[in-house]
Amino acid sequence: MAPWVPVFVPAYAKINLTLGVLQRRADGYHDLASILQTISLHDTLRLAPSPAGALTCETDAPELQGANNLALRAAELLRGEAAEPRPGVAIELRKETPAQGGLGGGSSDAASVLVALNALWGLSLAAPRLEELGARLGSDVPFFVRGGTARIVGRGEGVVPLPDAEPLWLVLAKPLIGVSTAAVFRALAPAEYGSDDDTRALVAALDAGLPVPFERLSNSLEAPVLRTYPAVAAARDALLRAGAPLVRMSGSGPTLYAPFRRLADAAEVLGRAQGAGLWLRLCRTVSRMEVADSHPHTAGG
Ligand code: C5P
Repeated sequence: MAPWVPVFVPAYAKINLTLGVLQRRADGYHDLASILQTISLHDTLRLAPSPAGALTCETDAPELQGANNLALRAAELLRGEAAEPRPGVAIELRKETPAQGGLGGGSSDAASVLVALNALWGLSLAAPRLEELGARLGSDVPFFVRGGTARIVGRGEGVVPLPDAEPLWLVLAKPLIGVSTAAVFRALAPAEYGSDDDTRALVAALDAGLPVPFERLSNSLEAPVLRTYPAVAAARDALLRAGAPLVRMSGSGPTLYAPFRRLADAAEVLGRAQGAGLWLRLCRTVSRMEVADSHPHTAGG
């Protein structure tokens, strides 16, 4: 195995273009019909060889010390897959994606570590194998192995890449609270389960190379979260008052997104939403090719 030099790797966040909760499964998880999209908001990982052989992760987010750190758990899981001992890695993780935000930050960190160390350690595992390993770390991890626009099936372990959605600008808004995904799913009544209608309509549009049908963006978890967390409802009102034509929630929230085709429109809404006490970002969608280009490809630097 060739030696390698330290690298930076971005870990892009995601939004859910659709999220239909179909049914509760025997294992306690829920079957989903969902289309995920990587976005330009990202954490940054620095991976460096560590002569001592240890796997370590330092981060600027105090809550991610220890067992909560999916990046470190991903490195440990992958090293367990190697037939021969692999050298240590010192990971540094700069967080930009808010934790418990519904944007998949921790899952993306884990996937980026799997993909990068697969290349840097010369393991040559194919994407489907990395997705299998990722599913052991969290439901959203398999999607982030390839990213772009993709449909997920089951609890997230099945990933079906789709043609990239048209490039969109996004205004993200999050109240200053975190939401537990497990708690949101636990509180969901069967009457609130959705269907896969919007997901299928979006897949048909993407397959046909059509613009994203904004009226089909939907999320089964949005109404219950808006009802349970007044801060999320207030954030939604703030975005609508700022002129966003459409506001949707990502994942189990509490982050909301408003999609735009014109930068000027997104920037205007961003400007008008300032001062409402929200975490706000203007970002954009990121294609599967861009995700692939951001990964280290071979050992040897
Ligand atoms: O897999 P992950 O750890 O990200 O999921 C967090 C929690 O969200 C799970 O413990 C489960 O309660 C819930 N969940 C679910 N159905 C899914 C994904 C997550 O019920 N498809």
